Amino acid sequence: MEERISPAESLRGTITLPGDKSISHRYAILAGLAEGETTLHNFSTGADCQSTLRTLEALGIAIEKTGSGVRIQGVGLDGLVAPRETLDAGNSGSTIRMLSGVLAAQPFLSRITGDESLQRRPMERIMKPLARMGAVIRARDDRFPPLEIEGSFLRPIEYELPVASAQVKTCVLFAGLSADGTTTVIEPVRTRDHTEIALREFGAEIAVAGLRVSVRGFPELRGGELTVPGDISSAAFLLVAALLRPGSWLRIEGVGLNPTRAALLDFLMSAGAKIEVRDIRQEHGEPVGDLEVEWGPVAGGVIEGGLSAALIDELPILAVLGAVSEQGIEVRDAAELRVKETDRFAAVAENLARMGVRVEVRADGLTVPGGQRLQAAELDSFGDHRIAMAFSVAALAAGGECTMQDAAAASVSYPEFFDTLRILTA
Ligand code: S3P
Repeated sequence: MEERISPAESLRGTITLPGDKSISHRYAILAGLAEGETTLHNFSTGADCQSTLRTLEALGIAIEKTGSGVRIQGVGLDGLVAPRETLDAGNSGSTIRMLSGVLAAQPFLSRITGDESLQRRPMERIMKPLARMGAVIRARDDRFPPLEIEGSFLRPIEYELPVASAQVKTCVLFAGLSADGTTTVIEPVRTRDHTEIALREFGAEIAVAGLRVSVRGFPELRGGELTVPGDISSAAFLLVAALLRPGSWLRIEGVGLNPTRAALLDFLMSAGAKIEVRDIRQEHGEPVGDLEVEWGPVAGGVIEGGLSAALIDELPILAVLGAVSEQGIEVRDAAELRVKETDRFAAVAENLARMGVRVEVRADGLTVPGGQRLQAAELDSFGDHRIAMAFSVAALAAGGECTMQDAAAASVSYPEFFDTLRILTA
């Protein structure tokens, strides 16, 4: 599907967002492994989280859609049944990596794969720790999906993550739920900690000391009623859209503000963006609040080290902002961006170039000088939801109408994105 996007004068209005994608995956999987029923309100509407639900159903977990989310009948840690077919994680790296941690502990063989993009993403990062725990995993070329997982009785391990990845951390901790003892993961830098918070919420014994996270095997997981906060990574596109168009004012209610995800707000505010955070409350251990943003000039800045890991999903939209910021944006230490749904450095560079924007790309970063104009162009999502949304926002500030190839990719995390843009720019 091609989308035509006209330049917008300004964005104005008050909205809420679909549930956070990262939290939705974790709640759904833990609800399936818990005893009893769990109701999840504001569950992510994105295709990725639907992939997680489908794979859970294929493992024998009953799931029912409700008005505001889903109801999941937990089967307990030892209640999954062998899937009859290859599990399909679609486009979702979170689904395949997190669920592999669960499959590694099952007394059956399973196969899991995904779409063309997922079949190009590295899995040795989960295969290594799971093999050390006792599972046997085969993969195409020893690293790509489909994965064939022979589950086993797992040994607890202490594992130092070679790359900063919350998905890998989660995979090992989920496997640790079925290991006889304490499983520990040591991170190189802090990544999103929704797994730690959710495990505690579902009743697991979890200890966090600096960059070490430990979970005790065989907890009694309990389901319940939880509400997923709005996805701050979806909010990012709308916040930046408001910062690009003079006269904009937006209020986004009920957004997840976990400090391991909210680096975007700190970065934008320290660059001069007029953003107010109001009414911060706690929901199931996750901070949630309302955001108000008003158009105003933004300086730009440097993103490196731990900040690059904290902003990993926001780098494409920040690259767009960089072009019209006063001083531009420089990103370093972000090689992980090359192995996301697409090579996001290549996709960002290509679309910026089509818009006539100067950009310098390196192996693990890029520089976008500020003070540039965005020209109308034929843009391409390259099948990646965050590229689709980042450059649709860029198109709002372009000199004329743009087209976006495969704009439907946005539905991987935010199916309502284009409708919301239309409402806010009307
Ligand atoms: C996610 C972690 C990040 C992020 C992805 C979701 C998660 O990936 O890019 O969109 O929910 O744990 P990595 O952990 O592989 O960096």
